[in-house]
Amino acid sequence: MLKIAVLISGGGSNLKALLDAAAEPGFPARIVAVGSDTQATGLAYAQAAGVPTFVVRPSDYGSREEWGQVLAAALQEHGVGTGPDPGLVVSAGLMRILPAGFVRLFSPRLINTHPALLPLFPGAHAVRDALAAGETETGVTVHVIDEGVDTGPVLRQARVAILPGETEADLHERIKQIERPLLVETVREIAEGILVLPGELG
Ligand code: GAR
Repeated sequence: MLKIAVLISGGGSNLKALLDAAAEPGFPARIVAVGSDTQATGLAYAQAAGVPTFVVRPSDYGSREEWGQVLAAALQEHGVGTGPDPGLVVSAGLMRILPAGFVRLFSPRLINTHPALLPLFPGAHAVRDALAAGETETGVTVHVIDEGVDTGPVLRQARVAILPGETEADLHERIKQIERPLLVETVREIAEGILVLPGELG
């Protein structure tokens, strides 16, 4: 059974999809902790499911690296990222760039979901940027986090057509409807060994 920790910053609908999937009999992963950089509303989903939560705020630390060290320690307390069975960290709406020291500790067992077809539109405003560029199509990417911003190896992608006159909020909601099952299936495939993370032996 794959141990997963999920990192969020906001509403946590992707977290909710993972929690719901993990509650199904036969799902090959379980969520052992949910962390955030802020008092995210989505933490309530974890609490309702009886999953431990923690908040590690960057503003409480002198540097991003120091914040990353405390975040890493919180994950390791829950048995993720350490030992022979390190599990997987899933960034599902964490709106922070993880510092290099953190990435080196966890990658490639550190994945992110991003609302665009990477390498197009990296960063915090992917949906807005795709609309502003006049695209007719965008999508979602699940990728391994490396030391760049949304530059790590792509694991899975799905396309979403952009409707004429669509607002950022409407488009993002439609992307999330595709994103949630894609993230769940990617986690399932990693847990079952169907999807081998780059640099790991199949
Ligand atoms: C998701 O669409 C995720 O891809 C995006 O934030 C949303 C979180 O939604 N992440 C980024 O934009 C990271 N650059 P949720 O809180 O409802 O799961």
